[in-house]
Amino acid sequence: MSENSQIVYLNGQFMPMEKAYVPVLDRGFIFGDGVYEVIPIYGGNILRLEEHLNRLDYSLEGIRLANPMSREQWKDIFHELIRKNANGDLSIYLQITRGVAPRDHGFPENLTPTIFAMCSPLKPLASHFTTTGANAITTEDIRWQFCNIKSTSLLANTMLRQFALDKKADEAILIKGTNITEGSASSVFVVINNEIITPPKGTCILPGITRDLVIELANTNNIKCTERNISVDEIKSCDEIWVTSSLREILPVTTLDNLPVGSGTPGPIWKKTYALYQDYKQKIRAGSAV
Ligand code: PDD
Repeated sequence: MSENSQIVYLNGQFMPMEKAYVPVLDRGFIFGDGVYEVIPIYGGNILRLEEHLNRLDYSLEGIRLANPMSREQWKDIFHELIRKNANGDLSIYLQITRGVAPRDHGFPENLTPTIFAMCSPLKPLASHFTTTGANAITTEDIRWQFCNIKSTSLLANTMLRQFALDKKADEAILIKGTNITEGSASSVFVVINNEIITPPKGTCILPGITRDLVIELANTNNIKCTERNISVDEIKSCDEIWVTSSLREILPVTTLDNLPVGSGTPGPIWKKTYALYQDYKQKIRAGSAV
């Protein structure tokens, strides 16, 4: 699917990507005043649709914006986007901004929100990630105090990811005080003595849909999993580190700040959980899971 042939959704219409324009006074452009979602599609079927729509509602509520669509309308848009674009695994990106208005910080009344959605091919993890793993660095979490809202105001996240890339790392793992929060665009898990640990939900992290699925898979397959704070000392001495997201699934991190994590290769608990995740994707494709 080249970007030029892609069909996107903008404000009630499906159109080629190159025809989709938003006015410069859109508050998404001027202020980053909007929220978004990234939703994986396997074999035409949507992973955890209700959970993604619940998080969208939560984010919209967090920025005091009414949801402009019913659940049925969202589902219709997604299915039409999937139908109009290529087969295979996809991710849907959707974004809602407060709309177009003269520049003024306060929320204008009675604005029509801008609604945009597009599909992109969703590729499996590159083989070097599954064989040798990824590099991560730790750095200070410089973001705001509502990281549980999936806001399009992502300047801090983009700076943090670029900081990692500049250091030849794939992800930045963020430190707040003495604990870690999450990655620049991912949730974080560690393994200590065969137990999976991930930070608890709250305003310091995005409630990752992949995170919740990983916890569910662990719980149903007798892998011990705990939600609790992870200290910087713990992450530096743990057996395994993973970062999870809708786009990177479960990515094993094998070096942290240029030092090996555990054995320095993707670990056994990752292998087991990653296999469970791949099985789950197959069930989504077959329509026997959601
Ligand atoms: N980001 N934490 C942050 C800060 C994220 O940006 C993401 C995902 C996650 C994982 O959430 P989920 O499992 O629901 O994808 C956690 C998306 C993929 C993005 O911005 O592209």
